[in-house]
Amino acid sequence: MKVLGIACGRKGSNTEILVKEGLMGAEQEGAEVKLVRLQDLNIKPCTGCNSCVIDLFERAGSGDCVLKDDMEFIDELILEADGIIIGSPIYEKGITGQLKSLNDRMGPGHDFAFRLISKKIREENGITDGKAVDERSFKPRVAALFAVGGSDWVEWALPGLHMWTVPWQMNVVDKQLFNWIALPKVACLKDDMLERARKSGANVAKSLKMDNPLEAPYVGKEGACDVCHSDLININEDNTATCSMCGVKGELVEKDGKLRIDYTPEVAAIAHTTVAGKFHHADDLKNFSLKPADNMHEIPERYAKYAHYLTPEKPLRA
Ligand SMILES: Cc1cc2nc3c(=O)[nH]c(=O)nc-3n(C[C@H](O)[C@H](O)[C@H](O)COP(=O)(O)O)c2cc1C
Repeated sequence: MKVLGIACGRKGSNTEILVKEGLMGAEQEGAEVKLVRLQDLNIKPCTGCNSCVIDLFERAGSGDCVLKDDMEFIDELILEADGIIIGSPIYEKGITGQLKSLNDRMGPGHDFAFRLISKKIREENGITDGKAVDERSFKPRVAALFAVGGSDWVEWALPGLHMWTVPWQMNVVDKQLFNWIALPKVACLKDDMLERARKSGANVAKSLKMDNPLEAPYVGKEGACDVCHSDLININEDNTATCSMCGVKGELVEKDGKLRIDYTPEVAAIAHTTVAGKFHHADDLKNFSLKPADNMHEIPERYAKYAHYLTPEKPLRA
């Protein structure tokens, strides 16, 4: 049982302290633990080249990113781990830019359904050349999410952390908000927070001891969405509500004195957190947005207007 801590904040500071406390809790429950600091790594932003998806669908390949940096290093750490405790400082209400880059870099290429499709194409067509999807992509993983902030500007942070787990199909068993801590290392003075972090880490290890860790219960704060426990809700033009994290949609209703999204079982079955939801998404891409339009041949002529309009400003470099 291996648990990896991913700390995305300042070296040795609040996020790292809380993630380490979580790892100590996991270790107490018998886990083998490791820590990686995102700030120690070089993770370039996604360029949108789509090589990962093309590799999965057209070559039944591994879906690995073609950019060369420390992505492969952290990918290997996650692939070998069973449990993840990931903590991000809150920057501008959300996760750090570096973690968002890691999410973009891992999203499409690590999408659980996309990887299953690649595996199936390879098996059905007896493809043996090139690199296949790593089998460890499919192992059941659990995660605890820690958002660490200095104020109450916090709303996008836990949904952002949750979104990072979505491609991997991790079972998020806890989400913790540690806010009103801003100065470096002050988290080590906050006994209540340290205790919450340790308990959360211990719970990750306990979840991994279950026969099916994907069925481990969620122990964090309940949100307005009963599927993913997020509080971040989008109100649509037709007065329905959509969970901004997992995408379930329904009427916003009051249940037991609390506002809730009233969704149907059919809608919940294809939430973005489910494998079926990811297959649904793959079908949408195939049938709509990635389906070539009838007038694709007009693009060169129509694009000519933009090709020669303005030269982008760039810094002068020696
Ligand atoms: C660029 C930047 C933006 C920040 N934005 C927020 C914010 O929107 N909400 C918040 O609660 N804290 C914000 N903070 C404060 C940090 O989240 C806080 O200091 C946290 O403890 C940092 O974690 P660390 O010590 O692990 O680096 C911001 C800090 C920085 C550097």
